[in-house]
Amino acid sequence: MKVNGTPYRPIWQAADGEAVEIIDQTRLPHAFVTERLSTAADAAHAIKAMLVRGAPLIGATAAWGLWLAMREDSSDTGLVRAYDSLIVTRPTAVNLRWALDAGRAKLSAIAPADRVDAAAAFARHVCDEDADLNHAIGRHGLEIIKDIAAKKPGEPVNVLTHCNAGWLATVDWGTATSPIYQAHDSGIPIHVWVDETRPRNQGAFLTAWELQNHGVPHTVIVDNAGGHMMQRGLVDLCITGTDRVSANGDIANKIGTYLKALAAHDNGVPFYVALPSPTIDWTLDDGMDIEIEERSASEVTRIPGRLDDGSIAAVTITPDGSPAANPAFDVTPARLVTGLITERGVCAASPDGLRSLFPEHRAAGE
Ligand code: MRU
Repeated sequence: MKVNGTPYRPIWQAADGEAVEIIDQTRLPHAFVTERLSTAADAAHAIKAMLVRGAPLIGATAAWGLWLAMREDSSDTGLVRAYDSLIVTRPTAVNLRWALDAGRAKLSAIAPADRVDAAAAFARHVCDEDADLNHAIGRHGLEIIKDIAAKKPGEPVNVLTHCNAGWLATVDWGTATSPIYQAHDSGIPIHVWVDETRPRNQGAFLTAWELQNHGVPHTVIVDNAGGHMMQRGLVDLCITGTDRVSANGDIANKIGTYLKALAAHDNGVPFYVALPSPTIDWTLDDGMDIEIEERSASEVTRIPGRLDDGSIAAVTITPDGSPAANPAFDVTPARLVTGLITERGVCAASPDGLRSLFPEHRAAGE
């Protein structure tokens, strides 16, 4: 996608071939800053501190992290050390494990001397594949939007999304946003309700910035407004991303997703979840077994923003001494999900639905 007319991905190999570059997402929307990652430790830090975030981008950054690690030490010990340092960066997005497992398998099968080039080729492949998968998700999701648009000619289709499952969270297109961008680009009038997504405000900071850059009409709403909007008939469908789908179709996504799914269910609003297949965890039969990341209380007690003089500051919003809890994800049971939009098509959020599109996989225990 483009930023001020220049095409960008959120991660790329530096032109000098000596590092990886990323868009620092902790600086958006008020500053567009890129950072160089020169070591595996830089890559691990970028994931942990959320300079990069979003399940597919976490996987892609880990893949580039393996390349950076192989440049430092391509021995078997170096490979184990790299895997171990990257796998612990964030626990919920399964794309991290997927990328590291695939990268380790590839690299451990070849001689240490060949590992640097092979790791770079692997990381490039992970990135290009993610962009392709997300584009395909968009094509399938577009059909859903087209069907709704046909029922309200001349009126915009109102989509509600939570967090940022946009191109910033992936290598390109985004997952939840891919159908939105493709609908907008094909001339379908579309409007997006953007949940602010406390505590880190990925909706208000990142999704709004992306949509604005691309010219997609949107409105930021507080997290608590979604149910009201649905009751008033102002939401035609919800589309979110996910960090992990268990083999029974439960989905883990940014905290608050479950409440949106409940409200959608109560109001007969379709609730779709968009995902590339590396986000499916075939080893888990039950979404309740997905590890939920607990983050720092300071993300709840403090909030950053731009002051009127243009400077960036964080302020404290809770009484001194009040404890805060910060679960970063929740699990939406499959029964509340209308459908899963994947690169191979749309399926029911169920073991049979997933297997119909991915027959090469078998759920755990089968
Ligand atoms: O904590 P984050 O910002 O990494 O959480 C991101 C999300 O919850 C996204 O919805 C999910 O990773 C899907 S990204 C295509």
